Amino acid sequence: MLFVPNKLLLEKAMAEGYAVGAFNTNNLETTRAIVRAARELDSPLILATSEGAINYAGINNLKTMAEIAAQESGLPISLHLDHGTSLEIVMRCIRHGWSSVMYDGSKLPFEENVANTRQVVELAHLVGVSVEGELGRLVGVEDNISVTEREAAMTDPDQAQEFVKRTGVDALAVAIGNAHGFYKGEPQLDFIRLEQIRARVEVPLVLHGASGIPDEGIRRAVKIGVDKINIDTEVRAAFQKAVASFLAENPQVIDPRKILGPAIKAMSEVVKSKIELFGSVGKA
Ligand code: G3H
Ligand code: ZN
Repeated sequence: MLFVPNKLLLEKAMAEGYAVGAFNTNNLETTRAIVRAARELDSPLILATSEGAINYAGINNLKTMAEIAAQESGLPISLHLDHGTSLEIVMRCIRHGWSSVMYDGSKLPFEENVANTRQVVELAHLVGVSVEGELGRLVGVEDNISVTEREAAMTDPDQAQEFVKRTGVDALAVAIGNAHGFYKGEPQLDFIRLEQIRARVEVPLVLHGASGIPDEGIRRAVKIGVDKINIDTEVRAAFQKAVASFLAENPQVIDPRKILGPAIKAMSEVVKSKIELFGSVGKA
């Protein structure tokens, strides 16, 4: 297998006390920016592709871009399905050479989430592909909900223990007040809950929605035992800002390579700063 399964990357991270960054990509520029950053810092890397990204770029394009970048880099890189919600997309990715898949049944009732995740694990493990499951719902920053509702959506530590045992997942994504997209104000993460989950679960833990979490919060999460951290929004924002400012200053330029060059650099800088924060520099 060209790509490295998450299990291998994350168990090393867990043993050595750092986290591996999972950065979302959906095109050539983003893939190259992410891999370039990891190469400069000699870091392991997870290239994360959502169903939306696969639909946008085409599964073969996405895979080939990742494959070439991984080969050229010589780094241990995982190609990972992010938030897969059906067995169909999971199997498509496995068939095309992905080394890791996330099955996200977090919106389903507990028993259904367990059954579906278990099925994915049984199939994926036959071919050495790692599986990440999710328990607890990430509440969107735009969802206007009460504190009680927010807490009800968070991962229950006892249920997390049962979920991991019954499904056999290789990693567990948790909901501790984290959310996708930009946060409104300072994110309120429940670190006590994270400690309780860490104490009951033996597999690596995953923090989604990490864009916008202050550095101190990330360091604390890694110290407690988060081993994989997902970043998308901050990379997108860097892309948008670089393209917008380049075009504002150079409205006459029509060459996509000139327009996108500064964006690659800007995305790469964001990824580098996250890799440094997660502590995976030199861990390739
Ligand atoms: O699965 C992807 C991530 O959880 C990214 O979250 O866009 O808030 O960084 P983010
Ligand atoms: Zn996510």
